[in-house]
Amino acid sequence: DEVRMWVFEETLPTGEKLSESINQAHENCKYLPGIKLGTNVIADPDLESAVKDADMLVFVTPHQFVEGICKKLVGKLRPGVEAISLIKGMEVKMEGPCMISKLITDTLGINCCVLMGANIANEIAVEKFSEATIGYREDKEAANRWAKLFTTPYFLVAIVEDIEGVELCGTLKNVVAIAAGLVDGLDMGNNTKAAIMRIGLREMRAFSKLLFPSVRDNTFFESCGVADLITTCLGGRNRRVAEAFARNGGKRSFDELEAEMLHGQKLQGVSTAREVYEVLTYHGWQELFPLLSTVHEICIGQLPPTSIVEYRLAEGQS
Ligand code: NAD
Ligand code: 13P
Repeated sequence: DEVRMWVFEETLPTGEKLSESINQAHENCKYLPGIKLGTNVIADPDLESAVKDADMLVFVTPHQFVEGICKKLVGKLRPGVEAISLIKGMEVKMEGPCMISKLITDTLGINCCVLMGANIANEIAVEKFSEATIGYREDKEAANRWAKLFTTPYFLVAIVEDIEGVELCGTLKNVVAIAAGLVDGLDMGNNTKAAIMRIGLREMRAFSKLLFPSVRDNTFFESCGVADLITTCLGGRNRRVAEAFARNGGKRSFDELEAEMLHGQKLQGVSTAREVYEVLTYHGWQELFPLLSTVHEICIGQLPPTSIVEYRLAEGQS
């Protein structure tokens, strides 16, 4: 009946606190203006109080903040609480890459499904039809409970027993979207962008399977796979900022453009490209993943934006 929404508190230009403004207007005037939230959604700037009585937890923040949030939640949750993560990203640790759902499970000792898909927030908020994929490990009943909770006539949810595949699709497509934005900024046209998306999808699948051999091919045909790749390469923020980066010839950094263009929202693709690159370097896999590697090297200014179409596939790759 009541949805407590933890809000990272900030002061608006009017001097009002964001959480107070949301509770008065039932609208998030900074991050989702013009959309009325249900009156049962209560913004709460206190993390501990937000989760105190919760039996279902939905994690959705930029991925760089999750670890800190989870540490604060240790020992604060009700027994038996279930979680789902909508977060597209991963953490790279000394012992290797760690998906966000695993970080949540390991830190808090709770089951955590994932929900990914072709889900640009503003479009869902105005109830335009879309689909999503829930990934789960073993506990199908939990996945079904989440699917029931999220499904509406305009939001169709499928469940797939391939948590790593679903989460890696959502995570890696943000890097491909940076590549798509670069080719847009270079005015290269539709054939080039389609080629980037195809090569990107192939690298997403190969990278996922190298990390987790259990990842299934079919997952890439779900909403979390090819559909999310398409929508993000056409209409996402990663694409938009990367286009501006290329139009500026790489002379203005992603950080600068993110701050100027997104007004507090966060890009996931640039940090994910760095994280993927760390994994590729560690294993000596860069040559197998020319697109994923090149995106990172362009983001850090080591290569010019034009390099996005200058790499060559390794022998035997298609
Ligand atoms: P965002 O990129 O709009 O970032 C802004 C949010 O980050 C705000 O809620 C802000 O309060 C919060 N924030 C800022 N500083 C913070 C801090 N120090 N600690 C905690 N939170 C802080 O966020 P988003 O679009 O909601 O993305 C969250 C996740 O959802 C990402 O992994 C993203 O890939 C995924 N996602 C987003 C969309 C979309 O269309 N926006 C769609 C699908 C999935
Ligand atoms: P962007 O973060 O690039 O806007 O992508 C949103 C998204 O994940 C759509 O499914």
